[in-house]
Formats: sequence, structure tokens, C-alpha cells
Amino acid sequence: MYDTSKQNIDPYTARIDYIAGLVTDMLEERVPSGERIWAASHLFGVADHAALLAGMRNQNIELAYIAGVMHDLYKFTTGNVERHAEEGAAFARPLLDKSGLFSSKEIETICGAIYFHSDKAHRHLPLDEILKDADVMQSVLSSGTRVVSKKQSERWKSLKKEFGFKL
Ligand SMILES: [Fe+2]
Repeated sequence: MYDTSKQNIDPYTARIDYIAGLVTDMLEERVPSGERIWAASHLFGVADHAALLAGMRNQNIELAYIAGVMHDLYKFTTGNVERHAEEGAAFARPLLDKSGLFSSKEIETICGAIYFHSDKAHRHLPLDEILKDADVMQSVLSSGTRVVSKKQSERWKSLKKEFGFKL
């Protein structure tokens, strides 16, 4: 069980560990075992891709990772898909707040990215775009690039160019 009273964590080294632990515990407690591996691989995969994209685009790698690992936590732990981005931002906010590890500006940045992540057709702030692109990357790459939905195709095209993929 995660301990939300860990106020003495070094904020410069352990914030990812804390949130990753919390996400792992919530998946363990609330997601049926048959769906848990997929949920974890999606969340941690999106977090890794978001961190990579943040590095490439000179954005905050740590906040990108945390937005990635939390972005579908609400969807997976409740089974609610409808408006899960907006609901997911509201779900993540108290978890971040309660940890005592993030400033209100950082919480806004993370929750803003979660809030907009389903809106793949429009452009928002750099970290919002990183999360949307990372979501597409994890989905397309985990299919061996064989499945690219209509909603994902424009972003996947830009990502291939950004990464220099020739396929
Ligand atoms: Fe996702």
C-alpha cells in the first residue's frame, strides 16, 4: 500500500519513484488481473516515450514522465472511458496534491496535459503535445506499427519525421 505521508522524500530524486509506486499499487488494488499487464505497459510505456520526447524538445522530462504514468490511471482503475481525460485530470490532482511533492504550478502542468490528452486533433501547450504524441507512440509501436487509427495517423506521420523513421 502506498504511503501518502512520505513527506521526507527528496523532491529532486524521488518524485517519479513515489508516483510510479502509487500507480503500481493502484493498478494492483483496482484493476482486474487480466487487464493489469496491459494497463501497466501502456502507462509506463507512455511515460517512457513522454520522457524521451521531452528530452528531444527541451521540456521537463520529470513532469512529462509523471503525466504519462498517470494519464489513463482513472480510466484503468474505474473502467470509465467516457470523458476519461477530463475526469482523469480531476482524479490525478488530489493524488499529486496529497503527496506534498509538487508545487501548484507543476500540478497544473501535469493535470493540464492529462486533461487535453484525448484531444489529438488540436494543439495545446508543449507538455500537452508531448503526452498526446507519447500516447500515439506507445499504441502504434506496441502494435509493431501495424495498427495506426485514423485519429493517430497525422501525429504518427509527424513523429516518424521527427525520429527519422524511413518506414
Ligand atoms: Fe493512453
